[in-house]
Amino acid sequence: MEKNYRQQYHLMPETGFMNDPNGLCFYNGEYHIFHQYAPKGLKAERGWGYFTTKDFVNYKNYGMVIFPDSRWDKHGSYSGSALVDDGEMELFYTGNVKQPGDYDYIYSGREHNIIYLKSKDGVNFSEKELLMTNDDYPENCSCHVRDPKVWKEGENLYKMILGARTRDDIGEALLYSSNDKKHWILEKTFTKPDLGYMWECPDFFEIGGKTVLAFCPQGVDSKGIEYNNIFQSGYCFVDGENLSKFTEFDRGFEFYAPQTFLAPDGRRIIIGWFGLPDVPYGNPSEEKENWIHCLTIPRTLEFKENKLWQEPIEELKKLRTEEITVKLEHGKTNIFPKVQCEALLKFENKSESFDISLRKDINISLKNGIFTLKMGDSGFGRTERSCHIDCTDSVRIFSDTSSVEIFVNGEVFSSRVYEENTEKFSIILNSSSELCNLTYYPLRSFEITKIS
Ligand code: FRU
Repeated sequence: MEKNYRQQYHLMPETGFMNDPNGLCFYNGEYHIFHQYAPKGLKAERGWGYFTTKDFVNYKNYGMVIFPDSRWDKHGSYSGSALVDDGEMELFYTGNVKQPGDYDYIYSGREHNIIYLKSKDGVNFSEKELLMTNDDYPENCSCHVRDPKVWKEGENLYKMILGARTRDDIGEALLYSSNDKKHWILEKTFTKPDLGYMWECPDFFEIGGKTVLAFCPQGVDSKGIEYNNIFQSGYCFVDGENLSKFTEFDRGFEFYAPQTFLAPDGRRIIIGWFGLPDVPYGNPSEEKENWIHCLTIPRTLEFKENKLWQEPIEELKKLRTEEITVKLEHGKTNIFPKVQCEALLKFENKSESFDISLRKDINISLKNGIFTLKMGDSGFGRTERSCHIDCTDSVRIFSDTSSVEIFVNGEVFSSRVYEENTEKFSIILNSSSELCNLTYYPLRSFEITKIS
């Protein structure tokens, strides 16, 4: 089987299907990265796969560690989170069950159960314990209530947020509290007009004096250059009962179901699923190489310039093997040895207008206050995405075998890209209002040790 598209520094499945990152946490000197996983593809039920790392460069891959093998999760061990407490990693997730019969599986026929288990090593787990069933959620909810994110607030207070769809097709987030992690009381419901019929994968945290509710609404209409993907992933600032404008985390084609967690040095890190369900564009790795999707590179979040500002985590600098700086000349094709790279564009002064071509047929431009990423044929149906950027002094591009993640002014544009036999990285400055230097860093691959 061909191996053209396999990523070098993104976590991806050996075979089959990967989706949401789950149970992200730092525990016992390591970062723990679980994820939704169906190694035999989507016809099999999903469980949790598992990676650990101390440095975001060297990883251990444990394969599938939580299986959909109980009465409460037999049709999928769906998404959930980790709480590090009492010296253990405690996991809360949604067990999916479809009752046999003629059901729509939205308003009837589906169980979404909250399951609890704990572990000291991520491989050996306690017995699964059932904490909540659909009978415990508010009466106006449909069967779709899932994706618990749990955290601790103070000595004996725990909080959990769940994503939900009401019987009237309104997306909501349900905030619960508990003193013992087992019995949960509903405190508050968040919703917002015109934000879809279902909210998946909620998250809730404080940052820079702000309270943030992150979630993935389904069914939001696109509005100009905003909300152009089939489903969104973004956040609102919370002020009492009020939610500020919903802002997308990523301006590209695919970033979904992210989770945030705290590193021991206080950084809030976010990792997303580098994919989306039900998209109109293609992922040829599935047919040609029997794997589909990966996770995004980890990014730090900060409250800056009135928004959540994202940067790639510092640890990725350890992947750099060399540094080459060139002044970009208009119209000249610059070819560098390796497509797996970081390319840092620095403008002499803040630039208000430029047009740059990358790789086979990707284009990025800034014009009239709008930054645009345009994909050609190698985007397999991905077309163009934009966001407001007045001017910028730098653009940072992470290019892997089959993806690009472009950082500009705290925004990110992520896209999968499928080129045949790509080895080299090329870039052309078609036009620019400012002189532009490029620093090119070839990146080495992650070291992944398989633990079986
Ligand atoms: C988001 C999601 C979650 C669910 C999981 C199942 O991508 O639909 O809401 O728990 O995927 O894999």
